[in-house]
Amino acid sequence: MPHILDGKKIAQNLKDKLKIEIEEIKIKSNRVPGLAVIQVGNVAASSVYVKAKTKAAKEVGIDVIDHHLDESINQSDLINLINQLNNNNDVNGILVQLPLPETINEEVILNSIVPGKDADGFHPVNVGKLSISQTNDENLMIPCTPYGCLLLLKELNIKLAGKNAVVIGRSNIVGKPMAQLLLKESCTVTTVHSKTVNIESICKNADILVAAIGKPEFVNKDWVKEGAIVIDVGINRINVNEEKSKLVGDVLFNEVKNIASAITPVPGGVGPMTIACLLRNTTIAFKNL
Ligand code: GUN
Repeated sequence: MPHILDGKKIAQNLKDKLKIEIEEIKIKSNRVPGLAVIQVGNVAASSVYVKAKTKAAKEVGIDVIDHHLDESINQSDLINLINQLNNNNDVNGILVQLPLPETINEEVILNSIVPGKDADGFHPVNVGKLSISQTNDENLMIPCTPYGCLLLLKELNIKLAGKNAVVIGRSNIVGKPMAQLLLKESCTVTTVHSKTVNIESICKNADILVAAIGKPEFVNKDWVKEGAIVIDVGINRINVNEEKSKLVGDVLFNEVKNIASAITPVPGGVGPMTIACLLRNTTIAFKNL
């Protein structure tokens, strides 16, 4: 049997440590980190994520300000709100849940958050810092999902340097920052995507395979090398029958688990780590002040 990477438990350990750290911050400064969470519209998955993020932040002692806005809000009103939060000393982290309605330019919005409060690590300054930094990550605002994946890999206590890592997907949220993080760990990194030729054979060469393509159960056993470590970023809801649906990843778990040496489940793998890393970023933003 492979090692099943228990993201729920590892995230809980991280949250427990953050809770203690925030208690100490409160004793010293009589303040706690503050996180503003902005959701525009009512995309069902976003509502689930925002609720989970808000709950977890409160649990570790972070102050949360929720802004749930109508999808008809215009771009300049949203920027005005972000500017207010940029200037609010009680707010250390700002998160704008994606995707945004098509009427709003995502890039403009993400750029309007001051880099020091960019809880997602999506601002170009933070993207740039991650790409050029060669030292450790203590003070960097790193995108939460890929950083969560890296922490899962580190739990295995194996040498990452020199490993062949293949990242499937090239999104700004996961694929690109994941590749940067693995490169920083001295892996040999390949990013494959929808236009890659021979994608399956490239994946089959991976010691570490990170699937972030958003296609349910896309990666099957033929894509995976014996003994590979498989990190599944996908969260896809599929119908089981007319009444029932379930969450599955981008990896066909029941097949790939027989080949991998370690694998993340869905749910309970990467998802909880994403949330824990958001809380980490918010706490770092407070400490960086
Ligand atoms: N939508 C999907 N993943 C994320 C994330 O990590 N952060 C934000 N803000 N939106 C998302």
